[in-house]
Amino acid sequence: MSSRRWSAESLQVLERTRQRCDRYLRSLDDRSVAPRAAAVAALSRLDEPLPAQPSAPEETLALLDELVTPATMAMAGPRFFGFVIGGTLPAALAANWLAGAWDQNAAFASATPGVARVEQVALRWLIQLFDLPRETTGAFVTGDTVANFTALAAARHAVLARAGWNVEADGLFGAPPIIVIAGGEAHPSLLKSLGMLGLGRARIVRAPVDAQGRMRADALPAIAGPTILCLQAGNVNTGACDPFAALIAAARRQGAWVHVDGAFGLWAKAAASHRRLVEGVEQADSWATDAHKWLNVPYDSGVALVRDPQALQAAMAVTADYLPSGAAERNPCDYTPELSRRARGVEVWAALRSLGRAGIEELVGRNCAQAREFAARLAAAGYEVLNEVALNQVLVAFGDAERTRRVVTALQQEGTCWCGITVWQGRTAMRISVSNWSTDDADVERSIAAMLRVAAG
Ligand SMILES: Cc1ncc(COP(=O)(O)O)c(C=O)c1O
Repeated sequence: MSSRRWSAESLQVLERTRQRCDRYLRSLDDRSVAPRAAAVAALSRLDEPLPAQPSAPEETLALLDELVTPATMAMAGPRFFGFVIGGTLPAALAANWLAGAWDQNAAFASATPGVARVEQVALRWLIQLFDLPRETTGAFVTGDTVANFTALAAARHAVLARAGWNVEADGLFGAPPIIVIAGGEAHPSLLKSLGMLGLGRARIVRAPVDAQGRMRADALPAIAGPTILCLQAGNVNTGACDPFAALIAAARRQGAWVHVDGAFGLWAKAAASHRRLVEGVEQADSWATDAHKWLNVPYDSGVALVRDPQALQAAMAVTADYLPSGAAERNPCDYTPELSRRARGVEVWAALRSLGRAGIEELVGRNCAQAREFAARLAAAGYEVLNEVALNQVLVAFGDAERTRRVVTALQQEGTCWCGITVWQGRTAMRISVSNWSTDDADVERSIAAMLRVAAG
């Protein structure tokens, strides 16, 4: 090791790494979306003993690039349609690099005023973008699972506080029981979050849903005593959103806390063309969403939003007491599960600032139109589209379960694009999820051609 300072030589590692990134980002257009088997097999070369001695940083980076770059899934690229995955906008990736150089532990505003201010602005912009009540506060966390956990911790605090119980001090031992209601098609990670909060995955009352996975407004289970109702904006299979206006009004009238898991569906609120899908969502008490999905910032990045700042602070503040710490500034760690944390809100700020309202609206609208195009063309070719394509998700069956599985596996191996497999209400289907900023109509054409070629083969 030549130096303990950032010498010209050590800075060169960054310059060469930037060139490696250039090559990778340019390759996304032409490379197979899935990594080739040989590249995955070559990862065995990483299984070396921990080196006894230091070596040049460039040597380590060269090995990382040589072995891992070919073994990546091209999730950052325009034809990855698996799960619900965003790429990374140029401003967001560059902000991530700069924030990496800053290496701020963004727990306390007084220690890291720059990033704390940027995160505060990003939070305000998100609240305005989703048109949530202006008193809403929030937290930048690792993803929607933790955003649900964080917001539901505030919910747990509030419903028990109303029943005269201090859950942060006394835990759930002997606490008044909480009724938790979630739709029959709630995302499994929401159930996990509830389990982590001691609310019991198996105790959740599952509300009936319709054929798109929407909770039925005419079948809301009875609400009595401390109750948390969990709704969903964007079913991971169909993209469907619960009928918020009716459900939230009924639940809040009866004193329930209403939480919305809006991992990707909440972004419909940011586009005039799709806002009607989430009408009334702003009436809820808390919301969870992802930035690493439709906002296209680097992993990992989610946001918890809570109407009552006191409830979130009570659940998350580091001080043993649930009362605010009294600090003049807003300390991020008073709202997040983590104490030490990176300022992931910086990338959210960069994405929001570079896109503006119009850019976000265009992105959401374009991806939804592209989903409709996939559905129309596959239906026209005789394949069955299983969902109403209202947002960015498409479910396609190529025949029975076995045939659909075979087509999806062959498509993944063919490499033009990548879609996953799911089972929707008993039917095996290919899932197409469109949420990447760089997906253009030519990518959709190329992908449809590959799907039809593979399905016919
Ligand atoms: C509706 C919904 N909730 C929760 C999650 C989990 O999000 P994350 O993986 O960011 O924790 C997802 C992921 O797709 C989702 O679609």
